[in-house]
Amino acid sequence: MRAQAFAKLNLTLEVFPRSADGYHPLRGVFQSVSLFDEVSIEPASDDSVHIEGGEAPEDETNLAWMALDAVRRHARVVSPLALSIHKRIPPGAGLGGGSADAAAALGLMADRFGLDDDATTELAEALGSDVPFSFVGGTKLVEGRGQRLRPFEQLGDFALGIVVPPFSLSTPAVFSEWDRLDSPSGHDMDDRYLPPLLRGGPPIRNDLFPAAVSLDPRVGEWRDEISRIWSTGVAMTGSGTALFGFFSTMDEALSAVDSIDIPTRATEAVEPVRVGWRRIDA
Ligand code: C5P
Repeated sequence: MRAQAFAKLNLTLEVFPRSADGYHPLRGVFQSVSLFDEVSIEPASDDSVHIEGGEAPEDETNLAWMALDAVRRHARVVSPLALSIHKRIPPGAGLGGGSADAAAALGLMADRFGLDDDATTELAEALGSDVPFSFVGGTKLVEGRGQRLRPFEQLGDFALGIVVPPFSLSTPAVFSEWDRLDSPSGHDMDDRYLPPLLRGGPPIRNDLFPAAVSLDPRVGEWRDEISRIWSTGVAMTGSGTALFGFFSTMDEALSAVDSIDIPTRATEAVEPVRVGWRRIDA
C-alpha cells in the first residue's frame, strides 16, 4: 500500500493562552500543499521502519509507525509490517511532514483493516495536534488543539514559495516563549500580498512569529531578507522556521525560489491541494 502525504502551511495562526491540558487553543487557516512524502506499508517477516531521502526516526518513535501500530492493535492484527517513507518535506520546519506521514499511514491502515470513522478520528487526535488536519487536508479552519476542523472555501488558483532557513526551533520552546512574552500577536500581512480569496477574511498573521524571533532573531532577519528579495509579504508557518509568500502562478513561485541565492535548508514552489494524503496504488 502506498500513499502521498502532503505538507501543510498555516496561512494564519492565532494562539490563545495555555489551557489546563497544557496546550494552547489555536485558530488558523491550514492549507495542504503539493510537496509530499511517500509512505509505503507492506507485509514483511519482521516489523521495520525505513527512511530514505531525509531525516526521521527509524524506530517505534516514528509518528507514522505509531499510527500503523495503533491501527494494528485496535484491529487485533498480528502480522509484521514494513513501513518505508521517502522524505521530501523538510522536518522541524512547521510544514507538518511527520503528521502528514502519520495521517497517510493511518488512512492506509484504516482502509485495509476496516476501521470505522469514529475510531480513526480518535486515533488521529491521540497521535498529535496536526494529525486530524493532515488526515482530511485541503483548506480548513482549524480550532482547539487542532482537532476541530471547520469548512473553509477550498483555496486554489495561486502558488506559494517556501524557504526553509538553515536552523530550527523547538515547538514547545516557541509556545513557552509566547507565554513568557505575555501572548503577543503577529503582524497582519497586507491585503495586497494575498490571493483574492483570502482578502477581507481572517487576518493573515502568525502569533508565534514574535516568539520565534525572540528565541532566534535570525528568523526575523530571514523574513525581512526574503521579503526584500521577493518584493512581497512573507510569513512563517507553525512554530517555524519555514517562511512562505504568495504568488499568482507556479511559474512565478518557481522563479522566486530560484532567485534565493543564500544557503538554505530547502526551497520549494508549491500549490494548494485538496487532500491531506492520497493513495497511489490499488
Ligand atoms: O502536539 P505536538 O506534539 O505537535 O506539540 C508539541 C508541544 O508543543 C506540546 O507538548 C506543547 O508544549 C506545545 N503545543 C502547545 N499548544 C498547541 C500545540 C503544541 O502548547 N496547540
